[in-house]
Amino acid sequence: MSPKTDRRQASGAAPPRPPADAARADAVRTIATQYVGDRGPLLPILHSVLEHHGYIADDDIPVIAEVLNLSRADVHGVVSFYPDFRRTPPPAVRVVLCRGEACQSVGAEDLYAAARSAAARADDVEVGEVFCLGNCALGPSGVVNGQLRGRLTTADVLAPLHRRQR
Ligand code: FES
Repeated sequence: MSPKTDRRQASGAAPPRPPADAARADAVRTIATQYVGDRGPLLPILHSVLEHHGYIADDDIPVIAEVLNLSRADVHGVVSFYPDFRRTPPPAVRVVLCRGEACQSVGAEDLYAAARSAAARADDVEVGEVFCLGNCALGPSGVVNGQLRGRLTTADVLAPLHRRQR
């Protein structure tokens, strides 16, 4: 045991915080560094982190802030402002259904209700809503695991959810 450890234990001080995931921090730093010098680099960096890692972890914020020479509060403020910057690992299945008027007119509400009901009986799934995906002519529309889909049927939406049922 090192003398440093002995002193910490003797003083009753809290153990040091475990280091953040160093590999992830390096990857986020690499992403952020690519945008240094661009105008308005924060949003592209956040989108890129989201694309590569699926979410923006708490520990990503100080890394990005350091690279851009911003405060953590600045970065956190932007991350927390936009709901699409998810803060937790994504579920195994994520379905986002359009509930806009054009999609409602072709059955989106029934689809959404069925998906919510199936999701309540499944593990590691998420059903979200959006109010137009710009795919109105092909409604009902949605995004299933990141892929824009049109003319969705109940079977299309429920199949991935049923695979995760308890
Ligand atoms: S209303 Fe659903 S895609 Fe536009």
